[in-house]
Amino acid sequence: MLAIRLVSGPTRPDTLVLPVRPEGPGAPATLVPTAVPPGDDVRAEASALLPATRLTGAAGEVREHLRPGGTPARLWLLGVGDGDEHGWRVAAAALARAAKDETHITITVPDEATDALRGLAEGLLLGSYRYRLTQAGGTPALAEVDIVVGDPEALAPTLAAARTTAEMTRLARDLTNTPSSTKNPEWFAAQVASAASGRADLHLRVRGPEELDAEGFGGILAVGGGSASGPRLVELDWRPAGARTHVVLVGKGITFDTGGISIKPVPAMKLMRKDMAGAAAVVAATLGAAALGLPVRVTTLAPLAENMVSGSAFRPGDIIRHYGGLTSESTNSDAEGRLVLADAMAYAVRELKPDLMVDLATLTGANAVALGKRHAALYSENDDLAADLLGAITAAGERAWRMPLADDYVEYLGSEIADLHSSPARGAGSVVAALFLREFTGDLRDRWVHVDMSAPSWSDDVHGELVKGATGWGVRGLLRWLATLG
Ligand code: BES
Ligand code: MN
Ligand code: ZN
Repeated sequence: MLAIRLVSGPTRPDTLVLPVRPEGPGAPATLVPTAVPPGDDVRAEASALLPATRLTGAAGEVREHLRPGGTPARLWLLGVGDGDEHGWRVAAAALARAAKDETHITITVPDEATDALRGLAEGLLLGSYRYRLTQAGGTPALAEVDIVVGDPEALAPTLAAARTTAEMTRLARDLTNTPSSTKNPEWFAAQVASAASGRADLHLRVRGPEELDAEGFGGILAVGGGSASGPRLVELDWRPAGARTHVVLVGKGITFDTGGISIKPVPAMKLMRKDMAGAAAVVAATLGAAALGLPVRVTTLAPLAENMVSGSAFRPGDIIRHYGGLTSESTNSDAEGRLVLADAMAYAVRELKPDLMVDLATLTGANAVALGKRHAALYSENDDLAADLLGAITAAGERAWRMPLADDYVEYLGSEIADLHSSPARGAGSVVAALFLREFTGDLRDRWVHVDMSAPSWSDDVHGELVKGATGWGVRGLLRWLATLG
């Protein structure tokens, strides 16, 4: 991974990056004042160049200016937009891509650089992310970035926090990109164990099929029953001394979703290795909370199962008894996510009794139908909690939109033979899925948030800090939100 250092002045005469910003409509971009000026001659030269470059200063614009024999040898002008954190994140990702053939670059940032530095470091580390199982196409050459700041020591904690956030986002991307032939439930649980190992303050319990059976996790067992790789329930606990708030995070962990007996057609199944992106995000956020030492207790539950087609698969029309005793009638085995989440949530409410509960799930294709590919759908009864989480998600440069838990549709969840119908044919897909989950929140009903993040969990193209493939959506927003709880 890219090495990022804070320095008090350029150490090498190679490429120096100067940030530029918009000056107004139609006007050329101007240089952003930086904590350590690049030197009067370089500054004057860059200023004189700007009108001819036709740079507007928009975040992500990059222009190279060669200075044969000079120090620096190359000057790059980088648009950072209005210079807020996300502008820097987008700019830094573009910079990492533009610098793929460089091995080392130096960039100057403004004084008061906390937000800029956070965006810059995250953007560099996320924009340069690649998931590859082969060496074909090569790895990016860019190995080192020096960031010139006024006081490297004072900013070191900011850089460390940004690096942790980016590393955890990269971990979630890696887990989600991994082919399902590798990442069965047992493998996923083993990854969590190795990431948590060596930390006495992180506790991990993994339940296998026998324990799930003994304790009555009927939803996880039904969904996982068709696979040769049995289901697991990961329970990862970060319990710092003195924590006053206890948050439970729940993440959907379907390591592959064929749809089961209600099998998906080819195009819909193509990307179903990503159906554990919710579990990856909550696990990574919990590891991040521990790495950052956030003073809030976080218990993460990741129900893991592979939804397969086989002689032992659950059938449409089966009745499932969830943890805690509620039953559901399942007429579509492709609505499997809510079945495993229901167990985990009921367990959290009854046994862990947290203050707050948030679940992340690649739950419905309807998320993208309603909101497009970049917004998650967020549901909560609690306006303050919804606003807090939405605020944190937005501040972290991720996107979500609040959707209604419309009571009118609750009647569609009625079944003649069970407590609930899990895949009603009527009502908006993402909303009825949320309403189904709400039935398992008990007295946490108004202290719970459900996030359907099937759309933004994957990016079809390069966009800002996102590369093609898994995005790690949710890790940054959750960490930001957890940091506000004490
Ligand atoms: N994993 C899918 C949802 C999904 C679809 C995620 C597309 C990412 C991209 C989920 O298990 C599913 O199949 N949902 C069904 C629900 C329906 C059967 C009630 C859906 O959305 O069609
Ligand atoms: Mn499904
Ligand atoms: Zn699914």
